Formats: sequence, C-alpha cells, structure tokens
Amino acid sequence: MNKALAPAKRVTLLTAVTVMALSSLSACTDPGPDASQQQLVASLPEPQRQLFTQGQQKAYSCTACHGRNGISSHPNYPNLAGRSEGELANALTAYRSGERKHALMTPQARGLNDADITALAYYFSLQTPAASAAATQAD
Ligand code: HEC
Repeated sequence: MNKALAPAKRVTLLTAVTVMALSSLSACTDPGPDASQQQLVASLPEPQRQLFTQGQQKAYSCTACHGRNGISSHPNYPNLAGRSEGELANALTAYRSGERKHALMTPQARGLNDADITALAYYFSLQTPAASAAATQAD
C-alpha cells in the first residue's frame, strides 16, 4: 500500500510532514507562558528587543546545560542568569579563542560569531538570577 503511493499523494504527505515539522519548530521558539519575561521584552526599546529575541533564540542550544533562562539544575554548570554582559561576553570570547578551555564549553563557543555572543550576553544578563528567582518562587 505505502509503496504504491501515487506521486500526488506523496506530495500531500510531504507537505503534511513539513507543516508538522514547522509548527513544532515554532512551538520551540515560543517564549512560553513566562509572564515576567514577556513584560520584560515588551518594556525594551526596539533595538534591544531585537537583540534580546536574537539571544533568546540562540540560547536554546545552551538550555540543556545552563537551564532555561540561565539557571542550571546541576552545580557542574554555572548559572548565567543576571551576570554582567561584559563577564558573559568575555567568557564566551575566551572559550572561542582557546584562551579558556573546557571539553564541553569550547565546542559550544566555537560556533558563535560576535553578534551571537553580544546577543547571548545581553539575553542572559537580563534573566532573573537564581537567588531572586528562588525568592519569587517562595512567595
Ligand atoms: C554540554 C553542556 C554545555 C552547553 C550546551 C553549554 N555550556 Fe556553557 N558551560 C558548560 C560548563 C560545564 C561550563 C563550566 C566550564 C568551566 O569550568 O570552564 C560552562 C561555562 C559557561 C560560561 C562561563 C561561566 C562562568 O562562570 O565563567 C558561559 C558564559 C557559558 N558557559 C555560556 C554558554 C552559552 C551562551 C551556551 C549556549 C550557546 C552554553 N554555554 C552552552 C557547559 C555547557
């Protein structure tokens, strides 16, 4: 049955699969129901908002280790939330150049260009740091 799919049907199937893949992708870039995050983005002037969004999208590849919003769930992975832009950018630049080396972090930084680093540093610097995030949760 499957083998004998007419070309027209195959195109339909392909379209359906592509649409499904695209919609799951957009679900992935959705900032989620984090109200404080949405408020923050809305309060930013346009160029900063763009930088933030750019950083947020790039930051998906950091989530596995540094946690969503830069608060890690394991002590081996440093928290990035609320650290200064300069500190974050310097660390990323140092990993990229090889000045600072780490088996997990070096390959992550190698793929970043200057614009990525600027956007990531901006995004993580605006995230609520771990201590105040915990205090908010305790409310
Ligand atoms: C596979 C896990 C992993 C991923 C993915 C990852 N990191 Fe890291 N990152 C680490 C580890 C482990 C360290 C601590 C390394 C060390 O001790 O030098 C680190 C350190 C850092 C530091 C330095 C923090 C400090 O305290 O000096 C920054 C900044 C950073 N990562 C940013 C990022 C960004 C941005 C991304 C996404 C583009 C990312 N990381 C993706 C594991 C990861």
